[in-house]
Amino acid sequence: MESALTARDRVGVQDFVLLENFTSEAAFIENLRRRFRENLIYTYIGPVLVSVNPYRDLQIYSRQHMERYRGVSFYEVPPHLFAVADTVYRALRTERRDQAVMISGESGAGKTEATKRLLQFYAETCPAPERGGAVRDRLLQSNPVLEAFGNAKTLRNDNSSRFGKYMDVQFDFKGAPVGGHILSYLLEKSRVVHQNHGERNFHIFYQLLEGGEEELLRRLGLERNPQSYLYLVKGQCAKVSSINDKSDWKVVRKALTVIDFTEDEVEDLLSIVASVLHLGNIHFAADEESNAQVTTENQLKYLTRLLSVEGSTLREALTHRKIIAKGEELLSPLNLEQAAYARDALAKAVYSRTFTWLVEKINRSLASKDAESPSWRSTTVLGLLDIYGFEVFQHNSFEQFCINYCNEKLQQLFIELTLKSEQEEYEAEGIAWEPVQYFNNKIICDLVEEKFKGIISILDEECLRPGEATDLTFLEKLEDTVKHHPHLLTHKLADQRTRKSLGRGEFRLLHYAGEVTYSVTGFLDKNNDLLFRNLKETMCSSESPIMSQCFDRSELSDKKRPETVATQFKMSLLQLVEILKSKEPAYVRCIKPNDAKQPGRFDEVLIRHQVKYLGLMENLRVRRAGFAYRRKYEVFLQRYKSLCPETWPTWAGRPQDGVAVLVRHLGYKPEEYKMGRTKIFIRFPKTLFATEDALEVRRQSLATKIQAAWRGFHWRQKFLRVKRSAICIQSWWRGTLGRRKAAKRKWAAQTIRRLIRGFILRHAPRCPENAFFLDHVRTSFLLNLRRQLPRNVLDTSWPTPPPALREASELLRELCVKNMVWKYCRSISPEWKQQLQQKAVASEIFKGKKDNYPQSVPRLFISTRLGTDEISPKVLQALGSEPIQYAVPVVKYDRKGYKPRSRQLLLTPNAVVIVEDAKVKQRIDYANLTGISVSSLSDSLFVLHVQREDNKQKGDVVLQSDHVIETLTKVALSADRVNNININQGSITFAGGPGRDGVIDFTPGSELLITKAKNGHLAVVAPRLNSR
Ligand SMILES: Nc1ncnc2c1ncn2[C@@H]1O[C@H](COP(=O)(O)OP(=O)(O)OP(=O)(O)O)[C@@H](O)[C@H]1O
Ligand SMILES: [Mg+2]
Repeated sequence: MESALTARDRVGVQDFVLLENFTSEAAFIENLRRRFRENLIYTYIGPVLVSVNPYRDLQIYSRQHMERYRGVSFYEVPPHLFAVADTVYRALRTERRDQAVMISGESGAGKTEATKRLLQFYAETCPAPERGGAVRDRLLQSNPVLEAFGNAKTLRNDNSSRFGKYMDVQFDFKGAPVGGHILSYLLEKSRVVHQNHGERNFHIFYQLLEGGEEELLRRLGLERNPQSYLYLVKGQCAKVSSINDKSDWKVVRKALTVIDFTEDEVEDLLSIVASVLHLGNIHFAADEESNAQVTTENQLKYLTRLLSVEGSTLREALTHRKIIAKGEELLSPLNLEQAAYARDALAKAVYSRTFTWLVEKINRSLASKDAESPSWRSTTVLGLLDIYGFEVFQHNSFEQFCINYCNEKLQQLFIELTLKSEQEEYEAEGIAWEPVQYFNNKIICDLVEEKFKGIISILDEECLRPGEATDLTFLEKLEDTVKHHPHLLTHKLADQRTRKSLGRGEFRLLHYAGEVTYSVTGFLDKNNDLLFRNLKETMCSSESPIMSQCFDRSELSDKKRPETVATQFKMSLLQLVEILKSKEPAYVRCIKPNDAKQPGRFDEVLIRHQVKYLGLMENLRVRRAGFAYRRKYEVFLQRYKSLCPETWPTWAGRPQDGVAVLVRHLGYKPEEYKMGRTKIFIRFPKTLFATEDALEVRRQSLATKIQAAWRGFHWRQKFLRVKRSAICIQSWWRGTLGRRKAAKRKWAAQTIRRLIRGFILRHAPRCPENAFFLDHVRTSFLLNLRRQLPRNVLDTSWPTPPPALREASELLRELCVKNMVWKYCRSISPEWKQQLQQKAVASEIFKGKKDNYPQSVPRLFISTRLGTDEISPKVLQALGSEPIQYAVPVVKYDRKGYKPRSRQLLLTPNAVVIVEDAKVKQRIDYANLTGISVSSLSDSLFVLHVQREDNKQKGDVVLQSDHVIETLTKVALSADRVNNININQGSITFAGGPGRDGVIDFTPGSELLITKAKNGHLAVVAPRLNSR
């Protein structure tokens, strides 16, 4: 990181501690000057940041700059406000201790600017809170509003804070800003009614007049010109080149919305701002009795409306004073001077109380909305102190007295916390030490605040004492009481030479930061801060929401005299000191380079003066002589114990011994550290940084270990949870399954029981006991039937039905057969149909009558056994148009000799035709065919009997066909002679020619034999087949 520093960063020394000649003021200032010339405005004195106002925008507060300074060690990067911011933030997070950044310096040195940058740093770099992310915006936006109402142009600073501000930012345990709170201190309210030459009233007045919309101004009865308002013209510089009231107005207007102002509240607030301007323009004229009378009716009218009070009451209150004497109220008229005084008092009271109300309102908006949540309890607080700086004017009054006293107090605190306490600590811890001389301003603080003898006490006494007390009597009293104090001078107390520079009504305080001469004029009044009773009453009666909160009626009845301003201020400062003491301090010491607000001008005299009174040299000397870092043994051990195996994870002995072991382990050299009574002191930052770096590395590995352990634990928990769930689901599911199974078994047992009982009573008439069984038998028969139906028409199987279903079964069977038949019929082709018809005819004729019929059954009948190509064309020609329906080769036996001759038999629609090669040998018209004879044996002979009277006919024809069954069936069908086929047992007689019959004898034998017997018969031996 060291290498990140550029040559420019190294101009001079970044830390005055490294200054060779650290006791030389000249060397100190030279270092400041060299760095300032290079626009290096920040330099350290150890942990204290010294900042010189550059009076120009150096572009060093960008987001990149913020990133550069985040999470790095203080000394590793060039000095910067952000380094302080980050160090403070990290201390807040890691050590969980409240922190306070105290920003000091004289007016115009850059305190407010630094506060704003710090806030901006935190708002932009801190993690956003889980809820209420708007708090960051509110923290930022509270600034422009407070500045508008509480800052003004002075001779020292164009944006001078005229009130003290201490702001707490609350961070949750994750380091996110979750809320805030503002304490404000003594607003310089005299500015409302009077400004020195070259100064202005509070910004808000000019902003409203410059930026306010026409309509708004009309409602408030205002003119745009600031010159029209007496309260704005006293300083004679309403316009300032460095201030843009118009754009500032826009910023303020927007900011008011962010910090939760409703439109109505804004209007109320601006009404009050306007009412102050109108009050300033109220004029009085004296009547005959020199009593004041309001002459500006118009103003009064606006006032009445803007403040929501009765017009007549206000008029009376502005010109009269209510006195209570002996329990009686008297109204005494005011003269011109008194009336103007009353008017100004009212303006101051209205404005300052509104300012207090505004701070409270902002606080409500900043308050963490999560105040009840547990994380709230673990919040840590970072305080930012931006108070008005030490100031000296030509004419210094009560306000400067208070402001400078405040700076005196803070200087005292600084001394206590840094110089004095540091030295005291070395002593207490028994560390060898050479004391450093420093100026302790306690003496001045005492001079101001001591009881009875202090300036504030004397002032209060004068304010409270009966009789004629004036500012001058106060001065006299002061001179009498304090007499010869080294830090107080008055005209009377001063020596001859100094007396010249002191007026009679003045006193001079020799502050730590320089001499200031105060004029006592107005001290008593301002300290008393009295508002006439009837003005108070009038305001208490106001119906304006803000005024009614600012002026509480209880104030009227409270008889006790309120604390004086100076005392109230003193008390609030004491409280502030307590708050700051309870926190870990960090310091930013602001220096103003010149009085002209010019960039690049380094006014050495002015700077030397500031270096001196800020105590920077002493600071440096103590720092050089001392130790950079110290911590209680417990805290140190707690933080770094993980770096040494003997102290990690716990050290059983005394913390001091633990630390000794630890530093030995870390290898600290003797000159690097000292062991005190309760603390360890580390001399050089680099030693601590090395330890911090080691811790960072160690933390990484510890974090990894913790993460691993945690992950293991986490996943184991998850696993166990899943396992438990799985077991739960399993057991539930098993239970469900078991229950289902049991229910099923129960059902089964019951069913079986019902079936058995039903079976026993199956023959009894239907009754509840057997109804189930009977139904079951029925349904199961019907259901089974579906599977056991016959497969085809020939299949005659059919399950046996229960008695009750016999009839239904029979009907079903019939239906089933019908259905099968129907289906079968639908599926057969015409050819097949013809085949079947022929077969059926064949069966009718031959079944059981002829031996070779069974062999013919499986053989299909063929439509014809001879193709037309096998028949002689001549024959075809002879047949003419007659078609041949069937043709088959046959053997013809002569009628006489029984000689076998090969022939063709043709069937036409009209006749049987016997063909010999190309010749039609015989034509037998069906009409002439009287019958057909055939044997009952297995031979294939047959005789066609022809009409005898027909001379044309040669007689009956003896034929033999290899397909005798087929041939005869066809002939019978064609000739319609189905019933004329004779099947003979022994022999067939046939007409062999005119007057001559032939006989064919059939005898069974082992082999087919056809011969002419001796008796002239044709003898046919045919085997008998068993199949018949
Ligand atoms: N760091 C800075 N960078 C640039 N300009 C700065 C810086 N600090 C201060 N200034 C300029 O100086 C002016 C005065 O600064 P600032 O208002 O912070 O002074 P102050 O210390 O708060 O004075 P007072 O005590 O009067 O309130 C600023 O308005 C700004 O112009
Ligand atoms: Mg300021």
